[in-house]
Amino acid sequence: MFKINENYLKLQGSYLFSTVAQKVAAYKAENPGREVISLGIGDVTQPLAPAIIDSLHKAVSEMGVKETFRGYSPDLGYEFLRSTIAQHDFKERGADIDIDEIFISDGAKSDSGNIQEIFGTDNKVAVCDPVYPVYVDSNVMAGRTGTFNKERGIFNGVIYMPCTPENNFVPDIPEETPDLIYICNPNNPTGTTINKEQLQKWVDYANKVGAVIIYDAAYEAFITEDDVPHTIYECEGAKTCAIELKSYSKKAGFTGTRLGYSVVPKDLKCGDVSLNTLWARRHGTKFNGAPYIQQRAGEAVYTPEAEAQIKEQIGYYLRNAKTILDGLHAAGYKAYGGISSPYVWLQTPDHMTSWDFFDLLLTRANVVGTPGSGFGPHGEGFFRLTAFGTYENTVEAVKRIASL
Ligand SMILES: Cc1ncc(COP(=O)(O)O)c(C=O)c1O
Repeated sequence: MFKINENYLKLQGSYLFSTVAQKVAAYKAENPGREVISLGIGDVTQPLAPAIIDSLHKAVSEMGVKETFRGYSPDLGYEFLRSTIAQHDFKERGADIDIDEIFISDGAKSDSGNIQEIFGTDNKVAVCDPVYPVYVDSNVMAGRTGTFNKERGIFNGVIYMPCTPENNFVPDIPEETPDLIYICNPNNPTGTTINKEQLQKWVDYANKVGAVIIYDAAYEAFITEDDVPHTIYECEGAKTCAIELKSYSKKAGFTGTRLGYSVVPKDLKCGDVSLNTLWARRHGTKFNGAPYIQQRAGEAVYTPEAEAQIKEQIGYYLRNAKTILDGLHAAGYKAYGGISSPYVWLQTPDHMTSWDFFDLLLTRANVVGTPGSGFGPHGEGFFRLTAFGTYENTVEAVKRIASL
């Protein structure tokens, strides 16, 4: 008789977004005339930039011609894309990353979920609290955690590092020494950032204790602060302790078309074993490559035309974020993030729970956001609003929240 992976039974239901969707659907059904604005989704709404569309069209045409047709891509991804990435995302930022250290993928969700596979199951995992749920759940599935502690809202055996206004949402070095440390910068859900000096401390610490930092830079394109690094490899010593994950989803609107990459430096070793070799082995065995068409679109992201168009799109979302942040501050809310991020993290008024505030916002302002408690116990009493809506809706939503 077969047996299931019982670790899956430890997982908690995807309560957060399904409950949000159910509550919104029920409210709309009861109040058909009301116009509900969603600032809840973490998905882009602007169409792909014209220069990207041109590159997609061209690549599609190539696929219809015998001489230029492509089948499976090379294991690590096409060299034209990896060399473009090495040049623009790393060398131009003073980080020396070789093209053999770059692995093209279908996005950062897959990479952030899969990367744990190359580590032993007895590694101790540290995550920020609140946290992007994939980091925790993928380790739960792999058996790297204990059971869920309902009282505390956390998984036993995982180190949770609180990120709160008190520490400016920068995690403190934990008492217990971790082996794997997940850091997302700029952060989802708090929208806050860790500057280079603060990140350097983590790099030094990881090198000292022999830990690996899994650095998720999915929101790197939103960075506006000069002291926030665009890659962890701007920090000295990061090549011996850090893996970086990047995504074109939020940078270039590829959430539906899919493309990302991971960086595993060759200097990152466990004894004599290079993690680069293990990840290459895993990639070659379990992944057959992102589509050629999409890799050409990724290459096009770095052309001057696309760069200008993408900059405009990011600017649009950042203007929304500023509108939310300024509007909330003017209305007396404590709100964070939103400067180098499409996310604004607000403190609920009068110590309301995240879900009570969700209900209040939905029923009284007809605005949807995401309850912070869904991202971890230290998200309780907080609420996430996103800047991915239209400017007009954002202005209207902020007006409604302010008049509550
Ligand atoms: C922190 C973080 N990492 C990764 C992802 C997933 O990115 P991708 O669309 O490249 O899979 C998201 C998406 O919302 C995210 O918030």
